[in-house]
Amino acid sequence: RPDLIYSVAIDGPAGAGKSTVARIIADKLNLTYVDTGAMYRAITLKALEKGASRTAEIINIAEESSIEIKKGRIYLDGRDVTEEIRKPSVDQKVSKVACIPQVRQRLVKLQRKMAENYGVVMDGRDIGTTVLPDAKYKFYLTADIKVRAKRRYDEMLKKGIKTDLKKVEEELAERDRQDRERECSPLTVAEDAVIIDTTDKTPEEVVEEILSHIKRREKNV
Ligand code: DC
Repeated sequence: RPDLIYSVAIDGPAGAGKSTVARIIADKLNLTYVDTGAMYRAITLKALEKGASRTAEIINIAEESSIEIKKGRIYLDGRDVTEEIRKPSVDQKVSKVACIPQVRQRLVKLQRKMAENYGVVMDGRDIGTTVLPDAKYKFYLTADIKVRAKRRYDEMLKKGIKTDLKKVEEELAERDRQDRERECSPLTVAEDAVIIDTTDKTPEEVVEEILSHIKRREKNV
């Protein structure tokens, strides 16, 4: 158990820089990084592999699967799926899977358990509002859609996935719309979250901003 048992919630749309920043913060504060998007992606991957399209089948998958996060890698039923869950086919389906209330219930329960067992830096869409409403620190990262699309595009190129920028931007806009407009846990800003626009900032600058905020608050209590 780390000395610091408190949680840091980081929410925001795809490509705002959450995972890069959350990973560094977790490392610096000796907390465990939990990527909740990866958990929804793992369930989606299994649904695709099994050809499960009916809601009841997907709920079954969510309830029966084991999902673990160890040292920044994600395991689905003991199998390392860290790379596979980033496939475009998963991108396209994940928002729908994440909208099934029973899937959310099961994953939120797992996420809360992780936060009870270790201090966590958890990133997602509903961490500050639903999963950990009592998190000590909440941040909401956002950025211009063009910049977010460029980041996603560069990430894919680095992994050797060929695509074009316009298409990435369109898909991102579509996923934003789905995440925002859906009925279950839509992407919203927690009232007590600190909002950081990362459009013109490097990950290091964002990390610095978050850490100085935390340090300031720690001194005042
Ligand atoms: O952050 P990401 O792109 O890996 O997230 C994948 C999808 O999962 C995204 O469409 C929204 C959904 N998601 C969610 O509904 N709740 C979370 N806490 C995290 C992700």
